[in-house]
Amino acid sequence: MASYYYAVVVLSMIAFCISAGHALDCKKLQTTLYIKQSYSQDQRAVANDTVIINWVIKDGPGADANSTGHAEGLTIHANPSKNSWVTLMDMVFEGGSLAGSTLKVMGLHAGMNDGPGQWSVIGGTGELTMARGIMNYKIIKQDTNMRTFEIKTAVYYTNSEDIMA
Ligand SMILES: *[C@@H]1O[C@H](CO)[C@@H](O)[C@H](O)[C@H]1NC(C)=O
Ligand SMILES: *[C@@H]1O[C@H](CO)[C@@H](O)[C@H](O)[C@H]1NC(C)=O
Repeated sequence: MASYYYAVVVLSMIAFCISAGHALDCKKLQTTLYIKQSYSQDQRAVANDTVIINWVIKDGPGADANSTGHAEGLTIHANPSKNSWVTLMDMVFEGGSLAGSTLKVMGLHAGMNDGPGQWSVIGGTGELTMARGIMNYKIIKQDTNMRTFEIKTAVYYTNSEDIMA
């Protein structure tokens, strides 16, 4: 069922790109990103259950990884009984191959023991203009100071030069 659904999404993306009949160019980005969520440094509470985030995006999970940007936004404890947080992020890339572009991302964020999760990519700017896709994330490390997310990302996009032309 999941693979059937995926195939329908891919086919309709292809149909959309072909039927558009102009410079709209569907490119695909498939990459793995990492986020380090430091509870004390990179976020601040604005109210009970609402937190402003500025988490660091990295190109690897370890201490030798480079910072490539920030996930800037808000996380809201919308469903306390399930401990899930609705998270709205602008992933702003400042270094690496995606520098100068952004991805608009939203979805639920729960704890390490609640299994992997999925975020929607609902837009982008720069090279990643019109980004649409999905991020499968997993919390690979969690302690009292920090969480590390591994984020497998697959998005289709065009770029801003093509759409402005
Ligand atoms: C960090 O950046 C350097 C220089 O661009 C690169 O060689 C290295 O592979 C990067 N580290 C990771 C974990 O990707
Ligand atoms: C904060 O929210 C939690 C639910 O997540 C609730 O149990 C608690 O009473 C709230 N605290 C205040 C001070 O409103």
